[in-house]
Amino acid sequence: MSLTMKDKILERFLLAGDEPLSGQQLADDFGISRTAIWKHLQSLQEEGYEFETIKKKGYCLIGKPDRVDAARITSFLSTKRYGRSIHYLEEVTSTQVIAHELVRNGAEDGTVVIAETQTSGKGRMARPWESTKGKGIWMTLMIRPNVIPQQAPQFTLVTAVAVVNAMKSLYAHFKPEIKWPNDILINGRKCTGILTEMVAEMDRVEALLIGIGINVNQQMNHFPEELQSIATSLSIEEGKQLDRSELVASILNYMEQYSELYINEGFAPIKKLWETASGTIGKRIKATTLREVIEGQAIGITEQGVLEIQLDNGEIKSIYSADIEV
Ligand code: BTN
Repeated sequence: MSLTMKDKILERFLLAGDEPLSGQQLADDFGISRTAIWKHLQSLQEEGYEFETIKKKGYCLIGKPDRVDAARITSFLSTKRYGRSIHYLEEVTSTQVIAHELVRNGAEDGTVVIAETQTSGKGRMARPWESTKGKGIWMTLMIRPNVIPQQAPQFTLVTAVAVVNAMKSLYAHFKPEIKWPNDILINGRKCTGILTEMVAEMDRVEALLIGIGINVNQQMNHFPEELQSIATSLSIEEGKQLDRSELVASILNYMEQYSELYINEGFAPIKKLWETASGTIGKRIKATTLREVIEGQAIGITEQGVLEIQLDNGEIKSIYSADIEV
């Protein structure tokens, strides 16, 4: 979906920061009348944007609604493909479901689906995912990498590293860590989950649907009681409201950079980034799999993102799926 005229005008104001923009200049740049510009500004005001009129200079954007919006994300993007097509929706069952439809309709590599809330958000292992309205990032990035199905899990690791580094680049007060396989924790509490789904033939990936759920602006009372002892939000940890659009763009910027790194140089640099960002490697952990409980030292991950644990007797065990306690 390309930007509408209204989005283009908004993008100009977002890029201008505190500088006023002249209505005449915008009208000339976009080849439309001043009245048309004024009508778009009216419509943006109805959506919650606030403009101040500055005599002889034009308009200044002085207030933004607390919504994720495509134009604002675009204003922070430095990507070639990721996030260049954004489907923003108020409410969906799950952004994964919408992304599957888009794959069937031939959507382009890097298409993003993002919603203010999900009525049936999906977690890993068929668990539900809580998606408080207007408070988090509930999005799916659909990519079409030229890889075989066995490589798909590595994109989950690429994503975890991209999300952690995006957070580190924007926020100073907390230290996010990856908990194997792909949760992101702050001070031991989960703030982010990643769910990767695949559309593929035996020997070819058609698309990967990378679902990212981030608790951004919730306060503790927004979480259901059963999550209050194990979940957190970035806002709780940073101590202020955060700009979700800026974080979405930063994640997409890192995602494209790391996906290219992975395609060009293989898994080794991603493994290194992942192990640096991980709070699991080097620690003594307890892994509860479907069949057994294993305790030992987490020593690293393999090419497939499999966790290796060294038991007290020296034996090394590979863990494909488990709940981990550090
Ligand atoms: C997990 O269990 O930790 C993974 C949670 C993934 C949640 C995200 S929110 C956006 C996307 N849409 C979904 O329905 N799930 C993922």
